[in-house]
Amino acid sequence: MALFNRANLNSLFLLSHYYYKFATVTVRLKTRERTLLSSTMMQEKIRKSSEKKTESSNVKSNTFETAIANRRDQACRSILVQVYSLNSQDDLQNYCAQFGNILSMHHYKKDKQHNHILVEFKNIVSVNEIISSASFMDGDLITPVKSSVFWFRKGQLRHKKNNQKKIILSTENGCTYPTEKDILKFLQNAKSVSGQIIKLYEILKLSDLETRLRFHTAHHLEQYFSRLFQNTKVLPFGSSLNGFGRKRCDLDLVLVSDNIEEVNIYTYIKNKSASRLVFHTKPMKLSERHETKEFMRILASVMQHFISGVHNVRKILEARVPIIKFHYEYTNIECDLTTTNMTAVYMSELLYLYGEIDWRVRPLVTVIRKWAKSQEITSDVPGQWITNFSLSLLVLFYLQQKDILPSLKLLKTYATHDDMRCTETGIDCTFLRDLEKLPAEFKYKSNQDNLESLLYGFFEYISTFDFHTQGMCIREGVPVRKPSRSALHITNPLETTLNVCKNVNIYELNRITEKAHDAVYMLETTDKSRNSNWGLMALLNMKENDIMDMVDGNKRKEQSISDYSEDYSHEISEVNEVDINQPKKKKTDII
Ligand code: CTP
Ligand code: MG
Repeated sequence: MALFNRANLNSLFLLSHYYYKFATVTVRLKTRERTLLSSTMMQEKIRKSSEKKTESSNVKSNTFETAIANRRDQACRSILVQVYSLNSQDDLQNYCAQFGNILSMHHYKKDKQHNHILVEFKNIVSVNEIISSASFMDGDLITPVKSSVFWFRKGQLRHKKNNQKKIILSTENGCTYPTEKDILKFLQNAKSVSGQIIKLYEILKLSDLETRLRFHTAHHLEQYFSRLFQNTKVLPFGSSLNGFGRKRCDLDLVLVSDNIEEVNIYTYIKNKSASRLVFHTKPMKLSERHETKEFMRILASVMQHFISGVHNVRKILEARVPIIKFHYEYTNIECDLTTTNMTAVYMSELLYLYGEIDWRVRPLVTVIRKWAKSQEITSDVPGQWITNFSLSLLVLFYLQQKDILPSLKLLKTYATHDDMRCTETGIDCTFLRDLEKLPAEFKYKSNQDNLESLLYGFFEYISTFDFHTQGMCIREGVPVRKPSRSALHITNPLETTLNVCKNVNIYELNRITEKAHDAVYMLETTDKSRNSNWGLMALLNMKENDIMDMVDGNKRKEQSISDYSEDYSHEISEVNEVDINQPKKKKTDII
């Protein structure tokens, strides 16, 4: 116990130490007003200024920037409540309606026992009032941060009458994952391979509720972090945002400072202050690797010990980009947190844009990711094989060769002053954001190939590509002479000196080309009229009998996971790069 107290004291000491260090960066970067806005007031400001920004600059409502601002605003106006059962909905609505107008209520089950309802209010003021009126659980020794995640306890008092009509649940039992059997049924009912690809994309893509919960997760962490460090934001990125995400994919998060002095889509607050008093703080250079690592070490301890819902924290500090991995209990999501990694966020924006340029991009990326997983070309653990991210770039590159997508160079040529972005480390991330300004040939394309022929074409392209001498360059939009000795070279579009596939070895590359070759043969020979196992079912190795076996197997596996899941370790494990790159768990037992 004494040891535990000492550990707590140490972490509190370190916390305050880092708080000062972090806050100093903000002072050094700007001699502006150090606001003491609460997190929620800050969000309100973000919303208003983003609205203003949208009005003044006439930004199209479907831009990445607007989509993020709207989702963040939605998360600020929402609360997550754990209820006994779905029957509590009316009672919860009556209770919440005292605080203001409710826009929507979404229900989901985390597992058989845990029911949650996400309540979205019209105004953030309602959430603030709920937070101030809520109480802590009896026996809470350390008073934690007040956040927007609650239990709904049995009520004794009658609620004030309200005039709001009964809200119909927008989602009932959301967040269910389609089984392989469900997917098989959908594929069987499709009329063509192109139809199957669209169905697969529709089943696997993230639903509105899942997207809400991802932004809610980021917001919850932000509520905690903003009590420790002034003006910080937690932004989701990666496949949860770029349109290539499938249900249950990991959530990538980045903790950034609001005060970075740059033209930045997320920096809506520009606090000009007339005050002559400036805080004394300690400087901290998060751009320096050892400081970032130290900061993340502290952050991991804080998360493990103080943030509700966070479990199983693992630090991977030796990776090129240090990350903290953890499980977020309330939404049942695996998360990866990094700091000041804005390049990755802009990369997500670029992938999102490519997905917006042509409707065929996302379904095609989805089916190719699914195929790669079914062939064990990709894996959930990192190693010497291709990642989903690199595979997506491979598909984008192929679509550039088909004149369906423009090069990044072209997107840069058409960029305007409003599109200028530069990261904290000086990486230029400027490219056209308003797709209305794209040249006509990319709006009205001559290539009208259907999804089936594009899928076939992709496999043919990569099974015959000269990987030995050539690399792929999304920026130029054409193959380039391979600038490195890596087996596979795909130039990082934003940091052109980097190869995103540096980790892939020759053995894995050969497997990719062989499997692509098999896929060409499979698509040529699979015939709907003669075979019940046609098209994607053949390509993805889905056979009804196997699926039945798999469903049983999954049940057994689920059982063993749930037996274990309550017993989260309170130790924080540190994983070094060597450990995570061990190819020990390549084989995936479930598709
Ligand atoms: N990223 C990057 N450069 C890399 C790897 C990743 O810029 N070499 C960025 C990309 O924006 C990517 C995000 O980090 O989308 C998250 O990486 P990762 O989780 O590996 O890829 P996802 O696209 O999220 O795919 P998955 O669904 O497998 O998580
Ligand atoms: Mg990801």
